[in-house]
Amino acid sequence: MKTKITEMFGIEHPIIQGGMHYVGYAELASAVSNAGGLGIITGLTQKTPTDLAEEIARCREMTSKPFGVNLTFLPTLSTPDYPGYIDAIIEGGVRIVETAGRNPQAYLPKLQAAGVRIIHKCTSVRHALKAQKIGCDAVSVDGFECGGHPGEDDIPNMILLPRAAEELTIPFVSSGGMADGRSLVASLALGAEGMNMGTRFIATREAPVHENVKRAIVAASELDTRLVMRGLRNTERVLNNAAVEKILEKEARLGKDLQISDIIEEVAGVYPRIMQQGEMDAGAWSCGMVAGLIHDIPTCQELIERIMSEAESLIRERLLGILQG
Ligand SMILES: Cc1cc2nc3c(=O)[nH]c(=O)nc-3n(C[C@H](O)[C@H](O)[C@H](O)COP(=O)(O)O)c2cc1C
Repeated sequence: MKTKITEMFGIEHPIIQGGMHYVGYAELASAVSNAGGLGIITGLTQKTPTDLAEEIARCREMTSKPFGVNLTFLPTLSTPDYPGYIDAIIEGGVRIVETAGRNPQAYLPKLQAAGVRIIHKCTSVRHALKAQKIGCDAVSVDGFECGGHPGEDDIPNMILLPRAAEELTIPFVSSGGMADGRSLVASLALGAEGMNMGTRFIATREAPVHENVKRAIVAASELDTRLVMRGLRNTERVLNNAAVEKILEKEARLGKDLQISDIIEEVAGVYPRIMQQGEMDAGAWSCGMVAGLIHDIPTCQELIERIMSEAESLIRERLLGILQG
């Protein structure tokens, strides 16, 4: 399958693995890239620019295919050394960066002068248009279904993607709620040039996270995610658990008075305990509604091959068959 996204990034299949905190290590990124998709290392999971440089070098040893690095500009408690991370990316020879969160404009000139292609992840058409205006090469359009931060507009992909298609001139991929060949064909029909997946890639053999995390995703249905931190305008879609129930109880009780400090125990620094130790109630962790469509733990190669063959038969048999009566 050839699309503007496969051409832009030099990949075989129009499938991207979005940056994920404490999941997007070299093991996963290289497995996705080796399977013909675009794997992405999560920049800020690496504590320092030197650590990121080492992770990039490790990934390079595991794949000769293109891979990217995610740089997230979300409100964090301390400001990361973004210029240092950008040097590590450029010096590591990475030519694709997925930016997310706040406007990445200040960092674009240096990245683009080094030949880096930028795909900015955003949750609204207005932010996608802004990304286009400041010179991003592509956008990842993240619908309300997505795991992680869906923004504050609550527009699902069935509306958001065709709206993006109406307005954008740069290529975009769908993100949020994507899992299989049906997702890919639907995304292409709605105007996207490929799809980005987060939650689906956690439940793969190569994702370097505790088995409990993968099992929790397989066990979850589409009813099992919750939105937290809405009152702080930092909404996050997470898998329900004991810590999330605690957050929701505090949010209901404190209402407008809620401060980040009220829920800090449940949201700050919890990822290593969940992703590495498998302590599933240690805190809130991002997970998409798409968990309801995830029933197994394949290798990345099996997953991507399955998606591509499902997509092809959907187009050739079901869709063409409908056309031909
Ligand atoms: C556990 C987890 C951690 C994530 N961490 C990040 C992150 O650090 N930066 C980022 O830009 N997106 C992050 N995301 C969002 C994903 O890159 C992707 O946009 C999202 O998962 C797409 O929705 P889906 O889960 O329905 O596929 C995370 C998602 C998950 C599930």
